[in-house]
Amino acid sequence: MKGLFITFEGPDASGKTTQINRLKSFLQEQGIEPLMTREPGGTPISEKIRNIILDKENAEMLPVTEALLYAASRAQHVGEVIIPALDAGRIVISDRFLDSSIAYQGYGREMGGMIKEMNSPAVYGIQPDITFLLKTDPANMRSRRSAAEEDRMDAQKIEFHQKVLAGYLAIAEEEPERVKVIDGERDIDVIAEEIAAITAEFLRNRG
Ligand code: TMP
Repeated sequence: MKGLFITFEGPDASGKTTQINRLKSFLQEQGIEPLMTREPGGTPISEKIRNIILDKENAEMLPVTEALLYAASRAQHVGEVIIPALDAGRIVISDRFLDSSIAYQGYGREMGGMIKEMNSPAVYGIQPDITFLLKTDPANMRSRRSAAEEDRMDAQKIEFHQKVLAGYLAIAEEEPERVKVIDGERDIDVIAEEIAAITAEFLRNRG
């Protein structure tokens, strides 16, 4: 694959959106126009699936249904958007990817290894080159989003979000080369500089 695939991960309200926009601006300053996308979503079909998953009215959704819907949304996204962009040599920045399913469904919903199996056809063998994991304490996230703003996943109990964070840290321990753990509770500018420096170094090493 000619392009570069960068993903951002972290608990809900970990400041991903802000940092993604900062990295986008940093790359644009270097004359690079990255392709910005997100999961669940990133294509019209995947965005429709997103609405079903996050709809608070779907409180009775079973964990297997949820996991399969995330995988279905991903399959369309990878096939329709990510792989063609990487083939064309683009830098792709995705707000969440497979690690989210491993952390939220695998650890949060305690579905374990089944998640990798379910997602195997959905990722067509690709994986991110760099993943920025914004590490924040889910207890602090509660104060950031009001109940009205919360979606079905935000509304899960704090214990669920703690399991998700533990899952992310386990992934980072397994793949320290790919997954960069970023302390997300620091000043926004300091975090943005760290992410930009890691990305710039990666690009230099790639030539
Ligand atoms: P967002 O709020 O970052 O857009 O993500 C939507 C929610 O979906 C968030 O709570 C994380 C969750 N999620 C999963 O549980 N599994 C997944 O595979 C993905 C991509 C997201």
